[in-house]
Amino acid sequence: MESHRELRYTIVLLSFLLLVSLYSIQGRLEDPAARRSPVKTIRTEYGDKYDCVGLYEQPALRHRLLKNHEIQMRPSFDPQRDNANPTGNGTSDKSIDVALMDSCPSGTVPIRRRSTAEVSRAKALFRQQFPSFNKSTRNIPGFAFAGITTRYEATTVYHGAGGMISINNPAAISGQVSASAISLEGGSPDQYSIIRVGWMVNVDLYHDNQTRLYAAWGQVKNRQMTGCYNTYCPGFVQTDTSIALDMPLTPISVVRGPQYYVKLSVTQDKSTGNWWLNYGDNAKRVGYWPSSLFTNLGNGAPGLRWGGTVSSSTSFLPQMGNGDNGQYQSAHFRHVELQYEAGTSLNGTIAVTLDVMQNRCYKSGDNYYKGEFWGYSFYFGGDGGDVTQCSS
Ligand SMILES: *[C@@H]1O[C@H](CO)[C@@H](O)[C@H](O)[C@H]1NC(C)=O
Ligand SMILES: *[C@@H]1O[C@H](CO)[C@@H](O)[C@H](O)[C@H]1NC(C)=O
Ligand SMILES: *[C@@H]1O[C@H](CO)[C@@H](O)[C@H](O)[C@H]1NC(C)=O
Ligand SMILES: *[C@@H]1O[C@H](CO)[C@@H](O)[C@H](O)[C@H]1NC(C)=O
Repeated sequence: MESHRELRYTIVLLSFLLLVSLYSIQGRLEDPAARRSPVKTIRTEYGDKYDCVGLYEQPALRHRLLKNHEIQMRPSFDPQRDNANPTGNGTSDKSIDVALMDSCPSGTVPIRRRSTAEVSRAKALFRQQFPSFNKSTRNIPGFAFAGITTRYEATTVYHGAGGMISINNPAAISGQVSASAISLEGGSPDQYSIIRVGWMVNVDLYHDNQTRLYAAWGQVKNRQMTGCYNTYCPGFVQTDTSIALDMPLTPISVVRGPQYYVKLSVTQDKSTGNWWLNYGDNAKRVGYWPSSLFTNLGNGAPGLRWGGTVSSSTSFLPQMGNGDNGQYQSAHFRHVELQYEAGTSLNGTIAVTLDVMQNRCYKSGDNYYKGEFWGYSFYFGGDGGDVTQCSS
């Protein structure tokens, strides 16, 4: 009897010690950036964990340019919010909802928990997957873009871009990335600046092939691209308590079946110059990139592009969008919008010249205006193929 009980105590004690040591090992492996005892942790149905981290403890602010940065909780002027029409009865013309099941307490923001290994992997992959290039230097082996771009005019800049992106799940393997995104960019290759938001399948980063929400920023300095995806490095300041970057997007659109969309936009605040990421039908503010991060996005962006980008370190480029399914069945954007002046709204009237970019492996076509449901739309995509053939 006695010895049984002792044995039980010993087992309980040993399992407790084991748990404690496992916990501390795990603690050490996790990204120290996001590990200052979170107020709360939210789990997703996909098995990811988001820690609610104090606003001023989020990784964004560890950037040397953001030492004394005062967080802007909302834009100084919010035309979209004022015009937002939140009525509607949930038809599929709406953006999908990617909010976490639960919000972080006020004063904290959700940062996905990841290991230090994943953080360093993310930084290395970003440099490899985000070379310095713009439209005029586009034939880089291992990269391809298909979609629409604003035609460069020396005196024109844009203060925002948006659209509804169809959600697809292109086939990609290790070494390949396939994304659908909106980019705001500018500058010569040696000081090129970029913000890109959308979704991507990035097998080497996430070790899965899900379609995940992402927002990246980049700035070329000393001939090297700096910046990163999401909150893997300092830069993006999150203010929203429930929209989670890195979140898998579902449902996936079905070729010749139902289509699902995520609505995203990036708009520049008139007084601070910060670039806000807005999500969903009511343009919920997720957070922003301080304008001090960029050399060429201080007062507007010289170029905008919407469409698919793929990259590969293998000898094949992956599928883009939903593959090659022709004008009416391919991946597409609806309600392409841009903002002409600081402090105005996104505008669905395209009064500038847009160029359609496509190549041997990836098609794109402009559908112009197609009524209320579509707004200004275009399609794009392809099955991919040999790197040397697809990059030219
Ligand atoms: C949405 O609501 C309006 C007004 O109640 C109705 O006329 C319309 O049929 C509804 N649409 C759908 C798809 O349910
Ligand atoms: C994604 O991965 C799963 C599991 O490995 C696989 O069954 C599926 O076919 C993959 N999907 C795509 C689009 O590659
Ligand atoms: C792209 O790079 C070229 C070459 O340096 C430069 O002249 C052009 O202005 C850049 N385009 C944009 C949109 O910044
Ligand atoms: C949108 O842009 C067009 C063309 O520049 C302009 O005529 C129109 O007034 C703008 N609409 C809004 C709501 O700003």
